[in-house]
Amino acid sequence: MKFFIDTANLDDIQAAHALGVLDGVTTNPSLVAKEGVNFHDRLKEITSVVTEGSVSAEVIATDAEGMINEGRELAKIAPNITVKVPMTKDGLQAVKTFTDEGIKTNVTLVFSSVQALLAARAGATYVSPFIGRLDDIGHNGLDLIDEIAHIFAVHDISTEIIAASVRHPMHVSEAAARGAHISTVPFKVIEQLMQHPLTDQGIEKFLKDWNG
Ligand code: E4P
Repeated sequence: MKFFIDTANLDDIQAAHALGVLDGVTTNPSLVAKEGVNFHDRLKEITSVVTEGSVSAEVIATDAEGMINEGRELAKIAPNITVKVPMTKDGLQAVKTFTDEGIKTNVTLVFSSVQALLAARAGATYVSPFIGRLDDIGHNGLDLIDEIAHIFAVHDISTEIIAASVRHPMHVSEAAARGAHISTVPFKVIEQLMQHPLTDQGIEKFLKDWNG
């Protein structure tokens, strides 16, 4: 399983990139609004740091034509831009057009396996099931990763599953075990993933023994 970072914060993206484990970035309108920056300028900055991995940029329009126009402009920013489209009827139409034009897509706000299947059939490069938001309403978000991974395997579908709305390290380890190709993770969770108290204790003991 690969790691994407789920943020529009450039410092966090640079810090995660420096770790050498980053394969891409996902943004969404809320994350960009939080930064208070121009969207296209920020995407240029992000794609100058992450030059090869996918950088997801989400459309704001809700109609297919608007999504297509916005997505075409976003795709011009850098070759590694992936256009992020919400899982709606218009979104599917836009994905089909982007697929025909060779523009990569990430279908977002996926909450059921049939939504994921439809997105894949429209040609989505990635689907993003939101596991944390399902947990929030009393469902088990990770079960959705199982279902989608199973369906995609049975039908030999190449669309990649991005476990999104990740809240804690257990989401990451379980998403990996259940067949997500990618987890998109806030920087705080990436930091948590590196930590283990026994690692800290081990270093402390090694240094104590070394110094006598
Ligand atoms: C995914 O691409 C989304 O940006 C993100 O994971 C949403 O997560 P949230 O539920 O924490 O807002």
